[in-house]
Amino acid sequence: MASTSLSLILLALSTFLLVLSPYAQAQKPSAPAPSPSHLNLTGILDKNGQFKTFIRLLATTQIGDQIKNQLKSSTEGMTVFAPTDNAFSNLKPGTLNALSDQEQVQLILYHVLSKFYSLDTLLTVSNPVRTQATGQDGGIFGLNFTGEGNQVNVSTGIIETQINNVLRGESPLAVYQVDKVLLPLELFGAKPPALPPPPAKAPSSAKNATAIAEEPSASASEKSDHSGSGGRNVGFGLAVGLGLMCMGALW
Ligand SMILES: *[C@@H]1O[C@H](CO)[C@@H](O)[C@H](O)[C@H]1NC(C)=O
Ligand SMILES: *[C@@H]1O[C@H](CO)[C@@H](O)[C@H](O)[C@H]1NC(C)=O
Ligand SMILES: *[C@@H]1O[C@H](CO)[C@@H](O)[C@H](O)[C@H]1NC(C)=O
Ligand SMILES: *[C@@H]1O[C@H](CO)[C@@H](O)[C@H](O)[C@H]1NC(C)=O
Repeated sequence: MASTSLSLILLALSTFLLVLSPYAQAQKPSAPAPSPSHLNLTGILDKNGQFKTFIRLLATTQIGDQIKNQLKSSTEGMTVFAPTDNAFSNLKPGTLNALSDQEQVQLILYHVLSKFYSLDTLLTVSNPVRTQATGQDGGIFGLNFTGEGNQVNVSTGIIETQINNVLRGESPLAVYQVDKVLLPLELFGAKPPALPPPPAKAPSSAKNATAIAEEPSASASEKSDHSGSGGRNVGFGLAVGLGLMCMGALW
């Protein structure tokens, strides 16, 4: 008898709790959500002890501060790809030093997305994804994400690497370890043809090559009266002249 009434009470109580639980859940979001102002990217990276170079670059380029401020004001969150110290030391020697200050800023901004992406959402993005370097110097500075299952690869067109380690995965800040520095095509892709060779040193042959170069252009300007392609012919003449000049320099 007593046990029946006890189970009735328990039943009533659990029903009451069940009815109540949606309200309890609805109230949850107002419970402490991680405040962006408490997010410390350096702290997240520092804990792991293998991001000293990246931490230093975040400081020297002041992008660390920039990220901190953006996290406070942005509703979209952010995503950071953090190359390990090994990744930096695997670069060709002098790679970083060969970059201007502005290019170092672009390189680091290339590792930052103005939106929070979980690993899952990285697999569904439409490539290429804009980075914070996008638009700098008119460059695309995009990253491509591909993958299978829960393995995500990030590629720049120059390097491709797997995302193996999630340092922080909760909105509004995702931090992923990458074992290669993400080298943007805009800075490390095939450079436009090198600057024209310095003027030939041998003065005698250069003078004569110039004399030769002037001949075709003179005849071209005569033709231009009816062909209208004088400009192109002059250009051709100059090219021939330059070619002869180079050959002269070789002799
Ligand atoms: C962030 O973390 C770093 C390293 O742990 C620490 O030196 C720094 O004081 C922290 N900054 C803030 C604002 O808490
Ligand atoms: C990811 O990149 C690795 C090389 O880092 C490659 O071996 C692998 O096939 C790539 N996977 C996908 C899904 O593209
Ligand atoms: C990135 O993906 C886009 C769209 O699939 C493609 O056009 C582009 O060539 C890719 N770029 C790189 C660097 O893989
Ligand atoms: C260069 O060509 C001119 C004729 O155009 C000639 O008089 C002169 O001797 C040549 N100079 C040399 C160094 O060959």
